[in-house]
Amino acid sequence: MRVAMIGTGYVGLVSGACFADFGHQVTCIDKDASKIDALNAGSIPIYEPGLQELVAKNVAEQRLSFTTDPQDAIRQADAVFIAVGTPTRRGDGHADLSYVYAAAEEIAGLIEGFTVVVTKSTVPVGTGDEVEAIIARTNPDAQFAVVSNPEFLREGAAINDFKRPDRVVVGTEDDRAVSVMRELYRPLYLNETPIIVTRRRTSELIKYAANAFLAVKITFINEIADLCEKVGANVQEVSRGIGLDNRIGSKFLHAGPGYGGSCFPKDTLALSKIGHDAGATLKIVDSVIEVNAERKKKMADKVIAAMGGSVKGKTIALLGLAFKPNTDDMREAPAIDIVAKLKEAGANLRAYDPASMHEASKIMPDLMFCDGPYHAIENADAVVIITEWDQFRALDLDRVKSLVKAPKVIDLRNIYKPDYMSERGFDYVSVGRAY
Ligand SMILES: NC(=O)c1ccc[n+]([C@@H]2O[C@H](COP(=O)([O-])OP(=O)(O)OC[C@H]3O[C@@H](n4cnc5c(N)ncnc54)[C@H](O)[C@@H]3O)[C@@H](O)[C@H]2O)c1
Repeated sequence: MRVAMIGTGYVGLVSGACFADFGHQVTCIDKDASKIDALNAGSIPIYEPGLQELVAKNVAEQRLSFTTDPQDAIRQADAVFIAVGTPTRRGDGHADLSYVYAAAEEIAGLIEGFTVVVTKSTVPVGTGDEVEAIIARTNPDAQFAVVSNPEFLREGAAINDFKRPDRVVVGTEDDRAVSVMRELYRPLYLNETPIIVTRRRTSELIKYAANAFLAVKITFINEIADLCEKVGANVQEVSRGIGLDNRIGSKFLHAGPGYGGSCFPKDTLALSKIGHDAGATLKIVDSVIEVNAERKKKMADKVIAAMGGSVKGKTIALLGLAFKPNTDDMREAPAIDIVAKLKEAGANLRAYDPASMHEASKIMPDLMFCDGPYHAIENADAVVIITEWDQFRALDLDRVKSLVKAPKVIDLRNIYKPDYMSERGFDYVSVGRAY
């Protein structure tokens, strides 16, 4: 199959590289020339484990190419994927669909022969109808079907998630389009990955419902963590105690500083708006949005409280900035709120993240970025663990102790055990663990 991928970001690049690896002929298109130039020069504009090798292999085998010019690739394509951003629209919280609609117009003028236009971007219910209307209006002779095919990959584990998904969702009522989609995903089909074919609107909603449900789970355990601190319980044991129940499941039950990233914040907000507009208010989702936003702000208060009520003039080392490990994505990361509030409270901040410092410097140019975790903690009055990168799980604690001014660790990801830390002489504060 010939595939054109419009948008070469986290989703477009991973999906394009994986489809190429399945044996399809893929052209990834982006209007950001610097991204395409970098890719053509052999470098990967994002941090994603394994992606560099996968891209290099498929470029070398001539199944994957990159361009800013959509013309040839779209003309020849059996399937054109839209994988552009759908960020929160300024002012009203709805998903901003301007990039999707611009891509639809571009596609309309170029497709030849029957073409499947696939929305991989996360889009509100009914967007596929609008994409279809735009293409039909712009090019009345076009032969096409618009399919919803939401993506569930997680940054940091994106290749594995794409190649071994729990399911693939395909939203269309067009049989020809279903055949094309089955052919595209054939290697998974042979692996017995469930392929769920639904109406397009249902498929669009599945993606939002999935993300909102996961955000509910995280926010629920975060509130339980607060309760644990008040009543002398341990949230990790609560998570294990409830997570082993198959009806609940153990994933997404780790208490922490609140969810961030490029998906949950904007998708919960967009789903809330979809519900309000449709007259079916989603009160649980609305509360989750509110509780999570408060939580991210409250994390700085937790640090301030752990330091005796004031951080003025204190040096604080921040370990991890990205919204989760194994990514450089800083979008809506809890670190952004934590940094802002600690700075306002007069702290001197020293930060280190293995992958996201370049991205972080665009959002927080004044932050002091360090060369490694041990550089960041030099002379610190406290060390705050914000992101649970593996390298922070295995710090040389004797070295840490010799470098800091005071052995205080505030662990917002619960990667150390309270007993273990106090035995080693640390004043240790974590999340939801009274013991
Ligand atoms: N990032 C994730 O983990 C993830 C997971 C699942 C779904 N999604 C969804 O996938 C979509 C894309 O997310 P992302 O994180 O990859 O975004 P991104 O911002 O990393 O990438 C989007 C890319 O699209 C390009 N673009 C925009 N309009 C274009 C056009 N007309 N022609 C060519 N290129 C264009 C941009 O330059 C950018 O490089 C979003 O809807 C998101 O919600 C993301």
